[in-house]
Amino acid sequence: MINESHKILRYFPPEMAHNLAIRGLKISGDWLPPLGPLPGLEQDLAGLKFLNPIGLAAGLDKDAKALLGLARLGFGHIEVGTVTPKPQLGNPKPRLFRLRESEALINRMGFNNEGVQSMVGRLEKIRRENLLGSTVLGVNLGKNKTTPNERAVEDYLNCMRAVGSLADYFTLNLSSPNTPGLRQLQYGQTLRKLLTEFKEGQLALAQEVANKPVFLKIAPDLSEKELDQIAAVFIETKIDGLIATNTTVSRIAEFDHRHLSETGGMSGRPLFDLSLWVLKNMRARLGQNHLIIAVGGIDSEERAQKMIDSGANLLQIYTSFIYKGTKLVHKLIGSSIKASG
Ligand SMILES: Cc1cc2nc3c(=O)[nH]c(=O)nc-3n(C[C@H](O)[C@H](O)[C@H](O)COP(=O)(O)O)c2cc1C
Repeated sequence: MINESHKILRYFPPEMAHNLAIRGLKISGDWLPPLGPLPGLEQDLAGLKFLNPIGLAAGLDKDAKALLGLARLGFGHIEVGTVTPKPQLGNPKPRLFRLRESEALINRMGFNNEGVQSMVGRLEKIRRENLLGSTVLGVNLGKNKTTPNERAVEDYLNCMRAVGSLADYFTLNLSSPNTPGLRQLQYGQTLRKLLTEFKEGQLALAQEVANKPVFLKIAPDLSEKELDQIAAVFIETKIDGLIATNTTVSRIAEFDHRHLSETGGMSGRPLFDLSLWVLKNMRARLGQNHLIIAVGGIDSEERAQKMIDSGANLLQIYTSFIYKGTKLVHKLIGSSIKASG
C-alpha cells in the first residue's frame, strides 16, 4: 500500500498531499516494528557508517514527525528539518506547486516548523527506545525569519546545542531561497565568520557530548567565482562535508507550466543539470578527500550513477520520491551494489 500511496496522493492539492503522507508515515512508524536501512554499498564517511548511499533530503520531514516511518523505507540516511530555534508558520499558502509534466516542484514554504524544542522531544523518545537503529540521522539547521543575518550564527548554534546528543550530523542550510537574505550568508567574509564561529561550537560540543560532523548545503545558483570562494572557506574552516544542492531560483523547464512564474525554489527533474554542474565544479575544487552529497533531480539509476561518476559520495532525493514513491528508493539502493561490484 505504502508503495502505491504516492499515486493516490497526486489527486490532492500538493500541501494537503504532503501532510497526508507525513501522517501516514508517522502511523506506520508508530505501529510497525522498526526497520533500518536496506543493504547497499556500505561506506564509512565523516566518521559515520552509511549502510547504503541513498538519503532523504531535508524539508520533507521538517519536524521529525515521520522519521520512523521513513526509516522503514530503507534510506541509508535521513535529514530532518530545516528546524529553527523558535516555531514559525512560514509563508502564506499556497506555497507549494506541482509541475507535473516535468516531475518538478516549486516551493516557497519559508521554514515552516514547530521549533527545535518540539523536535528534541520526539528525537529523545526515539533515541531512548533505540528505535532508529543504523539509519544515519542528519538535522538540517536554519535561522528564524526575524533573526537578522548578523546574528544568524546564534540561531544555528542554539539549534545545534539543543539537538546535540540526538543527531548524527548537522547541516547548515545557507541556501534556501525562501528566507529573505539567507543566501547572502554563502558569500565571502560573512561565510568565513559564520563557519568559523559555528566550528567553535562544534568543537565545544565534541568536548561535552561527542564529535558530530557538520555539512554545508549550498545553492545551485552560484557563479564559478562564488564556488571558488566557498571551496576555499570550506577547506579553511574544516567543514566536514558539502551538500549540493538546494532548489534553484532559475526557471529551466521542458514545458510551459502554469505555475512556472511562481516565486520560490524549483526542484526535481529540471534541476539535475545545474546540480551536476555544481557537483563537478566543487569536486574539482575540493579534491578527492572531502565528502560531497549530491542532491537535485536524481530520479533514475542512470542519473544516480552520473552523480557518483562525477564525484558524489552519497546521494539524496526529495522530489523524485514524491513522484515515484518507495520503488525508486529501493531501485537506487539496489543499483548502488551492482555499480560497486
Ligand atoms: C517542498 C520542499 C521543501 C524543502 N524544504 C527544505 C528545507 O527545509 N531545507 C533544505 O535544506 N532543503 C529543503 N528543500 C530542498 C531539498 O532538500 C533538495 O535540496 C531539493 O529539493 C533538490 O532535490 P530534489 O530535486 O531531489 O528535490 C525542500 C524541497 C522541497 C521540494
